[in-house]
Amino acid sequence: MDRRRKRSAAAGRAASILAGVFLAAHAAHAESLHVDDAHPGPTIEAAMLREFDGAYPTEASPSGVVREFALTAAPSVVPLFDGRPLEVWAYNGQVPGPTLRIRLGETLRVKFTNRLAHPTTVHWHGVRVPNGMDGVPGVTQPPVRPGETFVYEFTPKDAGTFWFHPHLRASEQVERGLFGVLIVEDAKPLPYSREMVWVLDDWLLGKDGAISPQFNTRHDLAHDGRWGNVITVNGDEQATFTARPGERIRLRLVNVANGRVFAPDFSGLDAKAIAVDGMSSAKPFDPNGFELAPGNRLDLDVTFPEASGGKQFVVSDRFTRSVFRLASFDVRGATAQAPAFPAPATAHIPDWTGTETVPPRLEFKLNARRGGPFGIQWTLNGLAMDHDHGGAGEHGAPYTLPLARWSKVRFTNESSRLHPMHLHGMFFKLLSRNGRPVSEPHWRDTVLVHARETVDVGVVPEDEGRWMAHCHILEHAESGMMTLIEVR
Ligand code: C2O
Ligand code: CU
Repeated sequence: MDRRRKRSAAAGRAASILAGVFLAAHAAHAESLHVDDAHPGPTIEAAMLREFDGAYPTEASPSGVVREFALTAAPSVVPLFDGRPLEVWAYNGQVPGPTLRIRLGETLRVKFTNRLAHPTTVHWHGVRVPNGMDGVPGVTQPPVRPGETFVYEFTPKDAGTFWFHPHLRASEQVERGLFGVLIVEDAKPLPYSREMVWVLDDWLLGKDGAISPQFNTRHDLAHDGRWGNVITVNGDEQATFTARPGERIRLRLVNVANGRVFAPDFSGLDAKAIAVDGMSSAKPFDPNGFELAPGNRLDLDVTFPEASGGKQFVVSDRFTRSVFRLASFDVRGATAQAPAFPAPATAHIPDWTGTETVPPRLEFKLNARRGGPFGIQWTLNGLAMDHDHGGAGEHGAPYTLPLARWSKVRFTNESSRLHPMHLHGMFFKLLSRNGRPVSEPHWRDTVLVHARETVDVGVVPEDEGRWMAHCHILEHAESGMMTLIEVR
């Protein structure tokens, strides 16, 4: 805590110098910057930083326990959907990949081997890792080539539901089956009757039942990425889960789809949302209507009434006009005693209201243009980036956010498509949509920006390094909608 105070005081003193450096180093995108020493921001920014204080830890507290896992990416054949064999690329031969589970304070060591015919990396989505463990090719590490091994090792600072996936040619690699879940349990996990993970995905299959091998098509790029014709939960179409009457379940939802947004309807159930993007909410909230965009996670606290034996509960998806059955619960078996405890809530989510007049420190304008390898390029501030060319692409240099200070970041969608915008290495809180204040009781690492919408978020980066900022519609990212933010 002391260290952070010192750091932010120093950062404060250096503010005007920093602003100067910032402008000089980023002439390429000066148009998007709004650093203005005369604006009323600094006092509000200082107040917002005070509200943040202690919201989540600056450093990890390693317990000394190391959990080691072997992870191999390789072509595999798995029975999916109707039981026919499906050719995939998978982690440890399974789709979804393994669920890695550790406890807060433990160190995760993953010995990763690439048995694909293509270079890849593993990115730990939502986890505040040391920058060198972030799995971003050409930025935090060289690509892991076929036959090579790379050891990922870090101690998560936050408990929650996270996931991992390749960060190279992700629109093809994730679509072919490379994804897995990382659960960091609380130091003292709550006594739920059971935990369940739902990995939500969709697949675009051809008439032959195989994964359609055309990636980054003009159609995908002109729309919201690749939307599949088969929708699965944990690899099953219309999956059925069983629960016992009286059970209280922690249900962790992860959207690993390339482009599809889910809005699962739990209204028939006694279900409360308790965490978003890994981090606990300040209070439980109604999960219905929550837009689970690619990359997002949502944790639910679900209780099956003692009198619900023999019943079926259907969870439908309502994001699009064609409502469909996502999965269902069959309640049967002996009645369990529902454990009674208050739903989890973090001690502290800052309020961050009254920031409307503060200009954003960074603004990203989201749009598309003609050109590039796929015919259409998605851009941030008119500029494209791709991992194949290394660095920050046309952006020239990373954007900058000051370490341990409060900043507003704005996403202005000038297009009529969806863009779930994701930041690596930090959590942010939604401030407003189209200038209207929005007060969510939780952090995020990914926010869905709708057509022509402007979304403001507040952030206090606590982790130094070069972090990606990109759209999590993987085709949009692949065709340019990525950049870097340097936190220093
Ligand atoms: Cu899940 Cu950079 O992404
Ligand atoms: Cu996008």
